[in-house]
Amino acid sequence: MVLRRISLRNFRNYAALDLSLSESCNFFVGDNAQGKSNLLEAVHVLGLTRSFRAGHDRELLRLGSERYELTGEFIDELSIRHLTSICYDTKQGKEASLDRKRMQSTSWVGKFPIVHFSPECHKITSGPPAERRRFVDVLLCQSSPAYLANLVEYTRVLRQRNALLAQPEGTSGNDFVVWSQALAHYGSRVMMARRTFVKEYEHTLLQSYQHISGSPLPFHFAYRTQFQSEEITTEGFLHLLQSARVHEERRKRTQVGPHYDDFVFEIDGKDLRKFGSRGEQKSALVALKLAETWYLKTHTGTAPIILLDDLASELDGKRLRSTLDYFHGSGQLLITSTSDISKGFLQPFESYRVLAGTLAPMMRN
Ligand SMILES: Nc1ncnc2c1ncn2[C@@H]1O[C@H](COP(=O)(O)OP(=O)(O)OP(=O)(O)O)[C@@H](O)[C@H]1O
Ligand SMILES: [Mg+2]
Repeated sequence: MVLRRISLRNFRNYAALDLSLSESCNFFVGDNAQGKSNLLEAVHVLGLTRSFRAGHDRELLRLGSERYELTGEFIDELSIRHLTSICYDTKQGKEASLDRKRMQSTSWVGKFPIVHFSPECHKITSGPPAERRRFVDVLLCQSSPAYLANLVEYTRVLRQRNALLAQPEGTSGNDFVVWSQALAHYGSRVMMARRTFVKEYEHTLLQSYQHISGSPLPFHFAYRTQFQSEEITTEGFLHLLQSARVHEERRKRTQVGPHYDDFVFEIDGKDLRKFGSRGEQKSALVALKLAETWYLKTHTGTAPIILLDDLASELDGKRLRSTLDYFHGSGQLLITSTSDISKGFLQPFESYRVLAGTLAPMMRN
């Protein structure tokens, strides 16, 4: 998949921008706070219908404006053109359209796959479990419409069940049984998909890690859940809910389910989060993102658009150069940095200077 053209109106610090992109590689160079990450965020919103950092679309509105508009022209592997548009208006809310037809905003997730890699991603290997769940969920939602549907339902049911648990009548009504059954149904499907994903992903991750780090040490990626593998069924889930009933009544929250899952990275049997050196963590992260690129391509049948935001601030010169080389050829690249890192880059590329929400072409090779 290639993003050929993008336009922004009143998005973050961009009043108006219309840009044609190279299908190979695009560098965006600028000082801090000029709009580099904002531009990648716009691409993320167009591809996945949501930002990687904003909690609400209101934050994406250029300060003082009441409506933002994003449009993107994507070209798929069969050279077919797709037009996506996302608008948000303070009065009318959010509107998404694909090829000029109004859609539910999640309906095209996975059609325009995106890999996003920024210094913030270190939280995936070093942060709390929620960071790893988010990483796995974003990847699986892009790869499988069924996973997206099950996760959306699970989240909705969990919220309802927690609301019931917080009420004085709590677990005694019929409603509670119905919500528990729904929770078990969707929750077990989410967990089955996560278990399958980990098995498939681990092999590529190991290969990528050994290649990047030059280390022969074994790299493991394991799924940690409250459930034994054979309990990951609707019945097994209901059984665990039954056992946790007193605990749930006391805590007034659902105590069992994939919202407690974690994923563990181990190098040579040691938990990367607790024992990994900075170098090992960085290599693991690059390997993780490379494996993500491979996984998306395998499961969606299309090469993702790869957003590499400010990696020069995290990776030293040698590691940065090899990271760019690894990603080259995996998909269209959009790369930001505060200094020009395109020197010596042999592939065709375009580069732009970013200044206060405007772009000026720098060079073309
Ligand atoms: N809704 C908004 N309206 C107007 N300006 C905004 C909005 N949201 C963020 N900005 C501003 O946009 C500017 C650019 O932000 P951005 O995150 O893109 O910077 P950057 O070029 O990536 O910088 P850095 O190199 O520090 O990461 C910042 O000054 C920020 O305060
Ligand atoms: Mg930035």
